[in-house]
Amino acid sequence: MSTLEAASSMTTKQDTAWQVCIHPDCRSTYGIDEILVGCPKCGNLLDIAYDWDRLEVPASLSEIEARWSTRRNPLDFSGVWRFRSLLPFAPEQSIVTIGEGQTILRQSSPVAKYAGLEESNLLLQYEGLNPSGSFKDNGMTAASTHARMAGAKYAACASTGNTSASLAIYSSAAQLFNALVFVGSGKISFGKLSQALDYGARTLQIAGDFDDALKQVREVCQREKIYLCNSVNPFRLEGQKTIMFRVLEALNWEPPDWIVVPGGNLGNSSSFGKAFLELKELGLIDRVPRLAVINAAGANTLTQLYNGQGLRWNDGRTDDAMIDSFFSQMDAENRRASTLATAIEINRPVNLKKCLRALEACNGVVRQVSDQEILDAKAQVGAGGFGCEPASAASVSGAKQLREEGIIAPSDKVVCILTGHQLKDPDATVTYHSSNAGNIDPKLADKGIDAVSFANSPVPVDNDLERILDVIRSL
Ligand code: F0G
Repeated sequence: MSTLEAASSMTTKQDTAWQVCIHPDCRSTYGIDEILVGCPKCGNLLDIAYDWDRLEVPASLSEIEARWSTRRNPLDFSGVWRFRSLLPFAPEQSIVTIGEGQTILRQSSPVAKYAGLEESNLLLQYEGLNPSGSFKDNGMTAASTHARMAGAKYAACASTGNTSASLAIYSSAAQLFNALVFVGSGKISFGKLSQALDYGARTLQIAGDFDDALKQVREVCQREKIYLCNSVNPFRLEGQKTIMFRVLEALNWEPPDWIVVPGGNLGNSSSFGKAFLELKELGLIDRVPRLAVINAAGANTLTQLYNGQGLRWNDGRTDDAMIDSFFSQMDAENRRASTLATAIEINRPVNLKKCLRALEACNGVVRQVSDQEILDAKAQVGAGGFGCEPASAASVSGAKQLREEGIIAPSDKVVCILTGHQLKDPDATVTYHSSNAGNIDPKLADKGIDAVSFANSPVPVDNDLERILDVIRSL
């Protein structure tokens, strides 16, 4: 029996959806309307579980494609809610949608070449095409829906920038609750900060980093009964499952060999694992892809625990003493996350255990990549596709590394998730492209960047036609 099956068989609730503790010795269940971000009994993470036998499950995934013909219905237009039969926790009239999930899976030959793959085998999933420019909208539509079901008037999050932008846009567009966002001062890119401000979210700049901001917001939400929208919220992860549904849909429901995803708070990887476990359980796919989770080297808790210390899911009985001692030592040494990929500058990933489950379910691997590798890969994604923000390029850089190690074969079909839009962090992009071998911008040099192999530097030229023509002829 799979973990998720075990969870559902334990319930005593009459409803078709409920919340359940992920720990096998607890498995406490809670109603769908309750606002919880952890098991009140044992403190572990919660899942959303379904009684699939009593629900209308599609007989095949391609049945969902029929919804393309009824796209005037906002629920069918949404790239999240057209899959609502696979995340059936909300009555249709409660669903909050702003047209999220209109994303695309595209093949990129230049990026395939860079990663060492056969030309047609590298596919980029552009989640930056969401309304707020990142994958977060997949989850925020689900969390906003649940906040509405629970009658929340205030919703909050801590963020490295994208969660806050997403919460803020759902608050401004849906007008159902007020948004309160906590960000680390100086820790988020201007593109993202500008979104939270423009969409009218009350924005608190905490004198600390993301890990500090998350600790504070959790406390605030608990004390003030505010709805928390970070990925400890299990409803958010339900929405993020649909990224995988759309990838499968684009591949005519044939799973790829690999899904490669950047790892920060580990919400995406966790939800991808749940998506595949459920699809398998429902008999809608017969094999799951392998999962590669890629840390930035400066924020590599998962890499250290998974590869360095051998931490595993272990049927839900994770070695908590190992985890606790890792974090105690981190605190004692005051080790802080540090990477130019600010979106994943996180040292205390809240979904660590669920990610371990996903790695187990998908025969996964974990790798870390340097800021140098991230920015080089990002430049390649820009030159060979629609571009992405730095954290997203960790996926391409990770795929390249796994290819070099021979773990990914050149003939494997590899999907890299590009989590955020190119315009999210223009500073990182312009700084890279404006640097040159003898003159690396100090912001990059500080993070160990000593080469800008793919820089496309702007060319200064006098305001003079002949000089301009000289420059063009010399290109
Ligand atoms: N990529 C981008 C662009 C992100 O914004 C994040 C997370 C991740 C990857 C990591 O995803 O947490 O699911 O492993 N950003 C969060 C935020 C933390 O606050 O916007 P994860």
